[in-house]
Amino acid sequence: MAGFRLFCRARSQHYGFVRHISRRFSGVSSCLEYHQYGDPLQVVKKSEKTIPELKDNEVLVKMLAATVNPADINTIQGVYAVKPPLPSIPGNEGVGRIVKVGNSVAGDLQPGDHVIPRINAWGTWRDYAVASHTELIKIPSDVDVATAATIAVNPCTAYRMLKDFVPLKEGDTIIQNGGNSAVGQAVIQIAAAFGWRTINVVRDRPTIDELKEKLTKLGATVVVTEEELRKSEAVQALPKPSLALNCVSGRSGTEILRQLSPQGVMVTYGGMSRKPVTVPVGSLIFSDVTLKGFWMTRWNKNHFSHPERENMLNKLFDLVKQGRLCPPDHAMVQFEDYKTALKDAMPSDGMVGKKQILVFQ
Ligand SMILES: NC(=O)c1ccc[n+]([C@@H]2O[C@H](COP(=O)([O-])OP(=O)(O)OC[C@H]3O[C@@H](n4cnc5c(N)ncnc54)[C@H](OP(=O)(O)O)[C@@H]3O)[C@@H](O)[C@H]2O)c1
Repeated sequence: MAGFRLFCRARSQHYGFVRHISRRFSGVSSCLEYHQYGDPLQVVKKSEKTIPELKDNEVLVKMLAATVNPADINTIQGVYAVKPPLPSIPGNEGVGRIVKVGNSVAGDLQPGDHVIPRINAWGTWRDYAVASHTELIKIPSDVDVATAATIAVNPCTAYRMLKDFVPLKEGDTIIQNGGNSAVGQAVIQIAAAFGWRTINVVRDRPTIDELKEKLTKLGATVVVTEEELRKSEAVQALPKPSLALNCVSGRSGTEILRQLSPQGVMVTYGGMSRKPVTVPVGSLIFSDVTLKGFWMTRWNKNHFSHPERENMLNKLFDLVKQGRLCPPDHAMVQFEDYKTALKDAMPSDGMVGKKQILVFQ
């Protein structure tokens, strides 16, 4: 009887939650949308859409937060590898809470669960979404919203690049440029947790000492500017890296490539300098280095429902819970102020500030 009462209380709390949501829930969703490619500040507009009736296999998701990443900006600009059909709702990454589930949705997704999209270009920049339950991955709901909203793209990219290209053993060294990028910060933290040392190359700036201190606190072994890299004694004292992670390309990519040990591997995942990768002939002939590329979107597509995807997320959330993986510096921006978020995600001085995260009331 007591068990039944508890069950009833749990059910009524559960339905109370749904009633609470539906009182506020108007049946209309606000989203950002673009009808043509171009400058995000010009082409992205707010719009309202009627939320369709739930089909049996669908769930209604209330978005909590959604990240603005360089790939989102480039997609809207029309310069990214993925060109979604227009009009399109931007946003690859974000976290939502399930409000309601369709009749045939199995018990692993329930109202109150937190979820992230399983598919690329899902359109996270909206307050409510109806989606097939197969498009969502359940994540722990006790993880803070900023961490949950930023886990799927950058930490997963960092994790895969550290795991999939070179068998690293404790004490091995990795070199990366864009060391202060969101991916770079995840690389530093994950590598430190696994016992790998990191050489982190960043661009010089007036606040370079502050940046070096911050990345060192995250677990970086050495942080150097592009100009310091070649002559740094701290870099020379470390074993030669067998893995280079290239966020920037151009000259910066060439410089980290030069630091690789013979038969080392450089993985290019970004082209922030908008310059090509140039390889010194000697690196290919005498050092026998290998150049590879990585794209999380492709990995996700190839591992759509592969157990390794959930295994990776579990490992990352374990690190989060142990306090060994935190999100990059970020600004939580109210959805209404999306233009500020877009502007701050494309700084005119070219220096990256805080990761912009849209939050939905
Ligand atoms: N291939 C994949 O699967 C994958 C996955 C995730 C991200 N990415 C790519 O990785 C890159 C970083 O993403 P993120 O979200 O980590 O970005 P982020 O946090 O915005 O950081 C951007 C980084 O790029 C540097 N940067 C910007 N403009 C530069 C320039 N002209 N020359 C040299 N460095 C420059 C910034 O350094 P400053 O502080 O000096 O400006 C910063 O380190 C992007 O290109 C993104 O598209 C690729």
